[in-house]
Amino acid sequence: MEFSVRSGKAEKQRGACVVVAVFKSRKFSASADALNRASRGAIATVVRRGDISGDVGRTLLLHDVDGVSADRVLLVGFGKQGKVNEAHFRRAVAAAALKLREIAVTNAALFVCDVEVQGRDLAWKAKHAVESIEEALYRFDQLKSKKKDKTGPRQLRLFVAQSDELASAQGGARQGEAVAGGVHFARDLGNLPGNVCTPTYLAAQAKKLQRTHKIKSTVLDEAKMKALGMQALLCVARGSREPPRLIVMEYRGARSDAPPVVLVGKGLTFDAGGISLKPAAKMDEMKFDMCGAASVFGTMKAAATLRLPLNVIGIVPSSENLPDGAANKPGDVVTSMSGQTIEILNTDAEGRLILCDALTYAARYKPAIVIDIATLTGACVVALGAHPSGLFSNDDTLAENLLEAGETCRDRAWRLPLWEEYQEQLDSNFADVANVGGRDAGAITAACFLARFTEKFKWAHFDIAGTAWKGGKEKGATGRPVPLLTQFLIDHCAST
Ligand code: BES
Ligand code: MN
Ligand code: ZN
Repeated sequence: MEFSVRSGKAEKQRGACVVVAVFKSRKFSASADALNRASRGAIATVVRRGDISGDVGRTLLLHDVDGVSADRVLLVGFGKQGKVNEAHFRRAVAAAALKLREIAVTNAALFVCDVEVQGRDLAWKAKHAVESIEEALYRFDQLKSKKKDKTGPRQLRLFVAQSDELASAQGGARQGEAVAGGVHFARDLGNLPGNVCTPTYLAAQAKKLQRTHKIKSTVLDEAKMKALGMQALLCVARGSREPPRLIVMEYRGARSDAPPVVLVGKGLTFDAGGISLKPAAKMDEMKFDMCGAASVFGTMKAAATLRLPLNVIGIVPSSENLPDGAANKPGDVVTSMSGQTIEILNTDAEGRLILCDALTYAARYKPAIVIDIATLTGACVVALGAHPSGLFSNDDTLAENLLEAGETCRDRAWRLPLWEEYQEQLDSNFADVANVGGRDAGAITAACFLARFTEKFKWAHFDIAGTAWKGGKEKGATGRPVPLLTQFLIDHCAST
């Protein structure tokens, strides 16, 4: 999709379609009002007859409206005037995009930035218009033998009322495009099945990013990981025919000595549970167990696209978790790269095993901040459902900044405690730590396990088990939390 930002009058725009906002109780946005006047009240007449209610996401298409240069007018409901919140705005814009695709319109002039959104400025509206349109129009049909037809919008012009508003709207739209590109990449990686998206495939994606973006990629194979003592990571891969990989991506947008933000993403390309085998129902969804990794890929891409003035390192430990004669067994004890020994009481708690070595490895970058992202526990879904990601941190300021970034971009997180009191659930009779802490507070004890490997730096952990993908009829990856992470990096640049 190609977006451009323009200023001009709604009634004067030529082309296939002009899109304007209407509200409940027959209220019009400024642009809808202008169209109505140009058409000598024709639009008000239609609205008065009750053909569109103004509810969020309702649309009404009009053809050949007198006094309007475009072929069509698309009216879109944004709810109650003056009461439009962030979610309403995004839903209404997405509905407009879907309607444009339905009628196979390739270009349109969008007059949606004149809608007042509570507490948000023009740049926010431009950013989120772009993001929600790209999100709504996303399709994954790479693996279908018959592709869906490609008709639908290709060029969208986003309008502002005054030319002095162009710069801020353009800035917002540019950020929106970068985030949308990162989300798209993350969704594609997440949606690919385990027989395509293997650790080797993810490593190849990092090399591809190196060719297309200012990102340097390095891939560590088993021999290199063995030399580093990454037994926690390696033992998870023992039950699989696919070799594990540790993928490192470096984006350097600041001075070489500026401490980087390190993003670590769980890249479990299929999690059958290992010897502690999972039940069959919905096991296919465990192809999404690499969505943390996918969010690191997506965020790296977005940061490089925006040429953010900071250093970002992405680290992705990647493996499968399958049962096999060579696989981990409950009771096995392994030594992690940090030197801490781990008793594997449940081979299905593998995410923390591959992450702990990657987190230890992160220290060599002398990071300002380390953030890991992982589909870590079913317990997090029980606690928080599908709306926020779970957030844990050993640093209050970092946690607040991440929560705030999530609020700004409607990709929210909710903080859970990492109290010392929970640590004793991980006591082991045979090793330094057990890899599971019992049924109670499962998301917290998983985070507590990781905390033992991150004491030397400011660290946050996202449990995205509930947010990274949707099940059911809409089954598919969401690309979360790429919007949150990218927003955090943007804000971080502004504050340092
Ligand atoms: N990848 C899963 C977590 C998961 C489960 C995410 C269901 C989304 C939906 C993880 O590797 C896992 O299996 N965790 C176990 C931990 C338990 C054995 C302590 C879980 O959540 O059941
Ligand atoms: Mn598991
Ligand atoms: Zn897993």
